[in-house]
Amino acid sequence: MGGLSMGQAFVQAPEHRPKASVIEADGIPVIDLSPLSAGPSDEAAVDALADEVGRASRDWGFFVVVRHGVPAEAVERMTEAQRAFFALPPERKAAVARSEASPLGYYESEHTKNVRDWKEVFDLVPHETPPPSAVADGELVFENKWPDDLPAFREALEEYGEAVEDLAFKLLELIARSLGLKPDRLHGFFKAQTTFIRLNHYPPCPSPDLALGVGRHKDAGALTVLYQDDVGGLDVRRRSDGEWVRVRPVPDSFIVNVGDIIQVWSNDRYESAEHRVSVNVEKERFSIPFFFNPASYTMVEPLEELVSDESPSRYNPYSWADFFSTRKNSNFKKLDVENVQI
Ligand code: SIN
Ligand code: FE2
Repeated sequence: MGGLSMGQAFVQAPEHRPKASVIEADGIPVIDLSPLSAGPSDEAAVDALADEVGRASRDWGFFVVVRHGVPAEAVERMTEAQRAFFALPPERKAAVARSEASPLGYYESEHTKNVRDWKEVFDLVPHETPPPSAVADGELVFENKWPDDLPAFREALEEYGEAVEDLAFKLLELIARSLGLKPDRLHGFFKAQTTFIRLNHYPPCPSPDLALGVGRHKDAGALTVLYQDDVGGLDVRRRSDGEWVRVRPVPDSFIVNVGDIIQVWSNDRYESAEHRVSVNVEKERFSIPFFFNPASYTMVEPLEELVSDESPSRYNPYSWADFFSTRKNSNFKKLDVENVQI
């Protein structure tokens, strides 16, 4: 289990501490994606779905999807592998620790907005491209570190990654449709992805009134497709009144949120929402965000179809590679899109 012990580094400023009473996020739309698997012919049903996705992206920046096409067995094998990994003794986890030169791997020292998060994490990519041998000297290596003696782990990750990527592309198409664009309008940005999968473990916390599993932030990428277990703890900042509200776990679902890149592409029709993770005294919690991100060379700017005299561009172009490698692109900050944890 994680070797976290409560201390000053984890203590949130008073205004950011979770309240004792939790407000359930009752309004977050739960969207049934089964029309997508009904065959390609039912265009009207897919258009209706795109409308729902568009409304949710506008009003919440978050929605839940069910009957999404990701096989339950793939999720089960992944979550079993995740639990087996975090149950390893610390030295086995340290054997796959991330480093400066090789940023994927295990760590337990993430800070969000300078306060330490109560969690341990294992980052991996669904595709190891380019192969490490093709990476030039000095470039970051995005190479997975596979834990020894967990034979089912690699297969589970690869199977899960493939299935969730299919879902992510379907969601991207719905978002494009909802903006009045061709369904494949955004695909080109994802030819070489910087997508990664994060396995999160939030151990029980002795001071859930002071600490957070992840401090408040917005996601910098395009879309996040999140699996969470049945414990609960993801809080979203509700747009209508600024309250933190808890996303209720729905069995066999994924939570989807639009990130800053979709906010910029859509020229603010959609907005990436602030969220955080609360922890609790009794229960550990597991979650798996799939951060669906474009190619590193992408220049992020409002799509030309969505810019007009009535709706002038609200953002200067910025380089996703610069943002991704420095994590604090000054242009990005100037745009007043908040920096995030990646
Ligand atoms: C995150 O926002 O990075 C984590 C979300 C979660 O664990 O529910
Ligand atoms: Fe997040």
